[in-house]
Amino acid sequence: MCGIVAYTGKQPAREPLVEGLKRLEYRGYDSSGIAILTSPPYWVRTVGKVDALERRVWQDSPAGTVGIAHTRWATHGKPSEANAHPHIDCTGKVYLAHNGIIENYLLLKKRLASSGHSFRSETDTEVLAHLIESLYQGNLEAAVQRALLQVQGTFGLAVLHAAHPDEIIVARRGSPIVLGVGVGECFAASDASALARHTDQVVYLEDNEVARLEPGRFSITTLDNRAVSREATTLEAGAGAIERGPYEHFMLKEIFEQPEAVENALRGRINHAEGVAKLGGLESVEERLQQARHLIVVSCGTSYYAGLFARYAFETLTDLTVETELASEFRYRKLNLRQNTVVLAISQSGETADTLAALREAKRKGATVLGLVNVVGSTIARETHAGVYSHAGIEVGVASTKSFVSQIIILTLMALLIGRNRDISYEEGARLLEGLENLPDQIRETLQQSGHIRELAQKYCGFSHFLYIGRKYQYPIALEGALKLKEIAYIHAEGYAAGEMKHGPIALVDPAFPTMAIAPEDGSYEKMMSNVQEIRARDGHVIAITTAGNAKLEHLVDDVIEVPRNHDLLMPALTVVPLQLFAYHCAVLRGCDVDKPRNLAKSVTVE
Ligand code: G6P
Repeated sequence: MCGIVAYTGKQPAREPLVEGLKRLEYRGYDSSGIAILTSPPYWVRTVGKVDALERRVWQDSPAGTVGIAHTRWATHGKPSEANAHPHIDCTGKVYLAHNGIIENYLLLKKRLASSGHSFRSETDTEVLAHLIESLYQGNLEAAVQRALLQVQGTFGLAVLHAAHPDEIIVARRGSPIVLGVGVGECFAASDASALARHTDQVVYLEDNEVARLEPGRFSITTLDNRAVSREATTLEAGAGAIERGPYEHFMLKEIFEQPEAVENALRGRINHAEGVAKLGGLESVEERLQQARHLIVVSCGTSYYAGLFARYAFETLTDLTVETELASEFRYRKLNLRQNTVVLAISQSGETADTLAALREAKRKGATVLGLVNVVGSTIARETHAGVYSHAGIEVGVASTKSFVSQIIILTLMALLIGRNRDISYEEGARLLEGLENLPDQIRETLQQSGHIRELAQKYCGFSHFLYIGRKYQYPIALEGALKLKEIAYIHAEGYAAGEMKHGPIALVDPAFPTMAIAPEDGSYEKMMSNVQEIRARDGHVIAITTAGNAKLEHLVDDVIEVPRNHDLLMPALTVVPLQLFAYHCAVLRGCDVDKPRNLAKSVTVE
């Protein structure tokens, strides 16, 4: 989703700005732009990849040392130069880049237009530039504060004014802004990866705060101009590490990083002696977890499917009643939270707008709110009562892969931690821990089949429709596998609980509608076989994912992919891997932009 980079310092701003935008490309965008304070100000916007903007900027070589830049993911108005940010006011002095949505923009626009302001774009953002212009009386920070007090909606904002040659004003409500403090220079960005190459000293802005940046220093106030004092913190090592290495795409690299992602998720979190998990991030809420009766898991996208897995994992290992809910639905429900309800928000980015809103709603209603988040220091991580980091490392590919596997692992650890204090035995705990520790090598073994899976992709990537089916622990994996194929290969795929097949999707089955059956030899295997038979009886092609050594399947289905055997509950961490590879190879063979699929964004910071 939209990205912001801002720089004020001694070097030409064009370099950190363009470089920062390139590091934000993974978030997904459709146009970009830059403004640098020269005389007159330098202002360029282009549609499409940042490369086009970069060529223009290198050609023009603007010399100014203060500037802002933006990648836009269209919400109000189609992708075009006129709608790209930064936007300007009538005088051409105010330059503004914005993430988020101004909900009352029509009202503000009408008012401003009637007092003589003329608009150049269809965006909600442009209204802000004119509003600031109308309130400016020589102090840019004060004008931004006053303007934002009139705004309903969300914003991460960076503003320049031609009469303030060293200064950048940034502000936040709902959309993240992080400041970076260097020697004689200051940065701001919507994501720390855009500034991590330049400084590891960062300050996270909170909602309804405004910051004034000058070379080497910053100050923070609230919208109503109360001073806020906040020290810079040190960014975790590796936050800027987004190199592709020998891999053709980030997604492939991240699929192959999954064994290490699991090792990182487990590191220091296993207590063999007692057959239990150790999760330092939950110690502060230990007592509340002891008393918990009801768990609600909220999340979006791939994290939602991790949430569906959580339902099975917590029900298997604990006596909690568990509900999994899409954050976008949860936030608008009338919540009748029972006493001793814990709400768990799962998010890779820690910034997803709906998940954040859902957790705030749950907090308001008095629930204990936990987070399972990958990005350290992100908003969800900061707003929950307690939580656990996935430690999957930065994930660049828009389609989430290693984060999902890490989430499954940590959800299992959380369920084990709670379950061992209730009715899970030492033996059961120890067996699960052993299974968890076997996973990294088993994922390595599964990854070796990438060549075989590519051959299958060659055979099937021309189909326009797919059905993915699974039961119990494999049901969320069927949904996740289908999502991967839709997201990056643009192939229509229906994920279904295999038991529901007869209630609709079987009507679609014919030789042009193949099925991916996720059928390890677990407690649901026989039932899955009946579903496979039903599909074969209707001339549907079937690819089956099953456990190694299961010879019975070969004559029944068209193609088989084998994964090693583990605890039933842990099999999803293995069966999902071939599905990621299958989607990846199909996408490459179909010529799709794997890491930046059309219309999608890595971090969805608007509702
Ligand atoms: C976007 C991404 C998905 C991700 C979802 C939830 O749609 O493209 O990959 O699963 O957001 O994001 P989160 O960061 O909250 O896990």
